[in-house]
Amino acid sequence: MSKRKGIILAGGTGSRLSPITLGVSKQLLPVYDKPMIYYPLSTLMLAGITEILIITNKKDKPNFERLLKDGQQIGINIKYAIQDKPEGIPQAFTIGESFIDDSPVTLILGDNLFHGQDLISKLQKCNSLNIGANLFAYPVRDPENYGVAEFNNKGKLINIIEKPKNPKTQYAITGIYFYDNSVIERTKMLKKSVRGEYEITDLNLSYLKDNKLNVELMGRGMAWLDTGNFESLHEASGYIRTLEHRQGLKVGCPEEIAWRMGWIDNKQLSSLAITTSKSGYGEYLINLISKTKAQTQ
Ligand code: G1P
Repeated sequence: MSKRKGIILAGGTGSRLSPITLGVSKQLLPVYDKPMIYYPLSTLMLAGITEILIITNKKDKPNFERLLKDGQQIGINIKYAIQDKPEGIPQAFTIGESFIDDSPVTLILGDNLFHGQDLISKLQKCNSLNIGANLFAYPVRDPENYGVAEFNNKGKLINIIEKPKNPKTQYAITGIYFYDNSVIERTKMLKKSVRGEYEITDLNLSYLKDNKLNVELMGRGMAWLDTGNFESLHEASGYIRTLEHRQGLKVGCPEEIAWRMGWIDNKQLSSLAITTSKSGYGEYLINLISKTKAQTQ
């Protein structure tokens, strides 16, 4: 079995954040002290995924490339592809077909931010499951804006409804999706919905129909934030700022994750720190090395 690949979907027009997004892609906007895409990138890296495709629109692709390059600097491999016309999330699997090849694949939406104690173990568990689809459901105040999970009285998932007017539960399906390789063929069978898009929920229902869909709950100790409008973007920045100020630890720092995973060494981390030394970000990276040395002496 080939190693799981990852896709970050960072296309779209960001129209709900206009005029901020008229000049810059939504997924490059800051969430407190780093570009939004660092968070989903970090999430894939924490899952152990090192082969990553970033899908953007044509005009923003050079900006993502300037930011993240080919990924070698953080010990991973990043490729880029273009979504000409946004026609729904599952398009990621047709655009990414040759990249995915015969591997299982994880898709994460470029504006989704996950954080929490159990995150790494949950992600790594999903990474090791190579059959079917594995999703997460998270309680939200406004489930009507999401794909909503419905369960029977034994807690088994029985349905997902996309943006229901009267949601039967509070559980939204989050924007990270672990699939086996059949996702490519399943995507090709999808029909457009009334809103003229291929729906990720229809894709997930095709797995449910075959009894190959597993949904795990993310509980109170976890944070799942999306950053698609003014309020949620501001809230996400506030959340990250509060945590980072209190703990002195960064959330969603790909350089740190690469270093902790052993994908880059002290020397590589130090050279990454130089490019960001004036903002305090570089100082944080350098301190990781000195603190670890001090603690092991
Ligand atoms: C999309 C999906 C929805 C999912 C959500 C997660 O919603 O259609 O099922 O719960 O992402 O962020 P959209 O971004 O299209 O509103």
